[in-house]
Amino acid sequence: MLRRTLVVGNWKMNLTTQQSSLLLRRLQQNIQGHRAVEVVLAPSMLALQPLSVEIDRRKFKLAAQNAYFKDEGGFTGEVSFAMLRGIVSYAIIGHSARRLYFGETLDDVTQKVEAAVRNDITPILCVGETKRERDARETKRVICDQVVSALANLTSAEIDSVVIAYEPIWAISAYGGAVAKPSDVTTVVEYIRLQIRELYGKLAAERVRVLYGGSVDAHDVKGFLSIKGIDGVLVGAASISANKFVNIVSAAYQTHTEVQ
Ligand code: 13P
Repeated sequence: MLRRTLVVGNWKMNLTTQQSSLLLRRLQQNIQGHRAVEVVLAPSMLALQPLSVEIDRRKFKLAAQNAYFKDEGGFTGEVSFAMLRGIVSYAIIGHSARRLYFGETLDDVTQKVEAAVRNDITPILCVGETKRERDARETKRVICDQVVSALANLTSAEIDSVVIAYEPIWAISAYGGAVAKPSDVTTVVEYIRLQIRELYGKLAAERVRVLYGGSVDAHDVKGFLSIKGIDGVLVGAASISANKFVNIVSAAYQTHTEVQ
């Protein structure tokens, strides 16, 4: 089954609202809408609202980089998934930066995935091991813990809409950006689908979209997209360069067309 390719740009804590609008404008001018490739932009929380007005929804969708799992209440400084409903289609949940810098726990991630689904927002669940965990041969245990706990409260029908992004922490540019070998990625992606299969059955395992993230750039995106079981990429640093991101999207389109 050929799933639609998904290219997600995680702008992280970069770009002012004005710079975000400017980048969006450049992307809209230079990226054609492709039925085979879905392009999702995740600007800062502050830029989401203005961009939701300016965005060409035939070409792009928006994602939040994070949100809080309660719908409303005395949670100073937080923004809920309920507030983002209608503005974003996706939300990145459990990114390694959230887990490492902001102490996000497995339980927080479970509740956020549930809150996103409750508010009709597709979770992009990020999972990945640290270098220390990989060296200690704990990758599968870490991935299993992260995947199984995050999806614990979803029904098998709800699993269909979840996207899982495998981002080995040691391969993310902000943490050194070592290059992941295709064989390493393949092993983990197969393992993720195995977990889904055991929890929700064969069909769910075939349907769930799995992305790769970690220093993806225009020159290596085709290689990652050619890995069996990978449906797209989650791009960090290269997504805030209009040229690089345009090239990544067009490479994704070419790869999708070649495998058809
Ligand atoms: P880089 O592409 O900068 O390594 O970031 C990956 C990432 O963390 C995307 O969420």
